[in-house]
Amino acid sequence: MDPAESKAFSSYRSRYVALSIKEVLAALPMQSSDRLLDVCCGSGELTKALADQLQTGRVTAIDINPQMVEIAESANTSPNITFAVADAGNADTFLSTWKNSYDKVLCYYSLYLIKDWEAVTLKGIYECLKPGGIAFLNTLAASTHVFQIGKDGLHFPKWKQYFEDYEYPMHGVTKDYFKEALEKVGFKIKSFQFSVRSLDADNDQTARNIFRPFTSQSNCVPAEKREQYREEFFQYFKKQSKDTDDGTMRWELEVITVVVEK
Ligand SMILES: C[S@@+](CC[C@H](N)C(=O)[O-])C[C@H]1O[C@@H](n2cnc3c(N)ncnc32)[C@H](O)[C@@H]1O
Repeated sequence: MDPAESKAFSSYRSRYVALSIKEVLAALPMQSSDRLLDVCCGSGELTKALADQLQTGRVTAIDINPQMVEIAESANTSPNITFAVADAGNADTFLSTWKNSYDKVLCYYSLYLIKDWEAVTLKGIYECLKPGGIAFLNTLAASTHVFQIGKDGLHFPKWKQYFEDYEYPMHGVTKDYFKEALEKVGFKIKSFQFSVRSLDADNDQTARNIFRPFTSQSNCVPAEKREQYREEFFQYFKKQSKDTDDGTMRWELEVITVVVEK
């Protein structure tokens, strides 16, 4: 995410934080001495909620985006959390001193953003867990509505010339593929759930904040035309929203959520 995207994400995300915290705390009950690794911690709200459950335990939280880490460090700091800028798609991030040393790992709404999520990130998470350690992970299905819309935005006749070499950066999976990938790495699957979750907007500004993370292709368009492309793409994005009874705009995410054990 570029800085503008992370700002939009944080403002939009705040509406969902309470629900996410509830989900994560229920799925990943913490012991007071646990060591937790939060992979792709974003602005750190979940990191902090989990860290607050600990007494002697400690949390390592990483994110590739320095601006996210900056927001996390100013808004969600705690003496038992160490935030760091690091790429979870790079095997070197999973330090040898981390191996077999975490009781819990969280990777929430992030695996689909990492090209090497399977060979590097899942493997790294597995290796960092202690035997018997638990990870709570989710990712998005390849058929997710907003991915489809994002890909449509690469084919607008007027703009497609700019995207010839562009690789779509969201790596959705099928349920079967994700299950196999988890088992291949060595995880025991404790729970596996598929759900359709909605992203709702009752005004344009919120819709723009939802839209922003799915539009990184805009950066391929020459700077002087970029805003024009974004606006056309945004109007298309709005048209693709699902109808709701109260007129709210709705887009859907197909979410695969697992609890796995090493
Ligand atoms: C949708 S946000 C979720 C953040 C957080 N887990 C939460 O739920 O609040 C995805 C996060 O993944 C981070 N991210 C994307 N690719 C990454 C990578 N290769 N390594 C580390 N973080 C990454 C982004 O910077 C962003 O903060």
